Amino acid sequence: MEFVEIFDTTLRDGEQVPGCKLDSKTKLEIAEKLDQLGVDVLEAGFPISSPGDFKSVENISKLVKNARVCGLTRAVKKDIDVAAEALKSARRPRIHTGIGTSESHIRYKFNSTPEKIIERAVAAVSHAKKYVDDVEFYAEDAGRTENIFLARICEEVIKAGATVLNIPDTTGYCLPEEYGQKIKFLKDNVVGIHKAILSCHCHNDLGLATANSISGVQNGARQIECTINGIGERAGNTSLEEVVMILRQHPYLNLDTKINSQKLYETSQLVSYSMAMPVQPNKAIVGANAFAHSSGIHQDGVIKKRETYEIIDPKDVGVTESSIILTARSGRAALAYRAKKIGYELDKLQLDKVYEQFLITADRQKEISDKDLPKIIEDSNL
Ligand code: KIV
Ligand code: ZN
Repeated sequence: MEFVEIFDTTLRDGEQVPGCKLDSKTKLEIAEKLDQLGVDVLEAGFPISSPGDFKSVENISKLVKNARVCGLTRAVKKDIDVAAEALKSARRPRIHTGIGTSESHIRYKFNSTPEKIIERAVAAVSHAKKYVDDVEFYAEDAGRTENIFLARICEEVIKAGATVLNIPDTTGYCLPEEYGQKIKFLKDNVVGIHKAILSCHCHNDLGLATANSISGVQNGARQIECTINGIGERAGNTSLEEVVMILRQHPYLNLDTKINSQKLYETSQLVSYSMAMPVQPNKAIVGANAFAHSSGIHQDGVIKKRETYEIIDPKDVGVTESSIILTARSGRAALAYRAKKIGYELDKLQLDKVYEQFLITADRQKEISDKDLPKIIEDSNL
């Protein structure tokens, strides 16, 4: 079994969600939770962006016990100096520096040339190396960068000392097969690639961030950059809880993470609450309906054997139990199960009568709660 490192960027890329800015104290609380969750790397912010972000990175560096703490920079000397200063108390600091590598970034954003971009990338990594051993290089918009140029720039930054190569699909455009092939191309063609870890950083504009990250690790990447609840600018980033559970539920992939999955739900709730950003009910792993069953056919199956309709034990992600929701689509098995939970043991004849009464009420209201059940049973004239 090989381990994939989890690089959490909830407090940097995730915090770029409009209206979800966090204060320093809340950032510290989330950082502590992420450290307990077991993330390998915690991207704490972009220190040069504001005095508040600088302070947060500084405070998180002092607080975090296990994870590497990382600060983002552009390929600009001053950014790197400021990040190094903010990270100076971190036990295991990492500087994350980089530059756009796609044609549109080189030509339109920087009005530059591929050669000059390589020079800037190498200069940035070399400068960061003066402060820390662990330097991650990002090739922004790698998803739309020609593989041959991407391989060249990766080779040069490895020579300059980069320990991690981040291959972002910044615009979320790649297909899983294409993204996986990009990682494989780098693995097969970059001289010195054994000296660095390839990292997946996928955005979710087409809903493919998780699939692309998994394809990346199947093709040789050994780090995934992700956020809790998949939050992030536009359609968000790869969702941490999804990639962690995919690797865990598919042991034949021979890849796992060091995440304590039983803390996933509480971490998701903390981030959602702190950012006032609700988790969609049908969100995989942590959504309110992820372990809820409401159709009669499914309920009957789950009550007989949970695995019939669930591929994850809810306890493994910190959810107490699966829920059987009572609606007009529920069957007798679900009704008997819920009645028993509140102390009513119904025989077959009684159940038939209660079920009739139940359907009348359930057609009137969306959901039947434990509070409604005693009245329904009473009205059934048993
Ligand atoms: O999406 C992206 O390209 C990024 C980089 C700054 C790492 O977030
Ligand atoms: Zn990003």
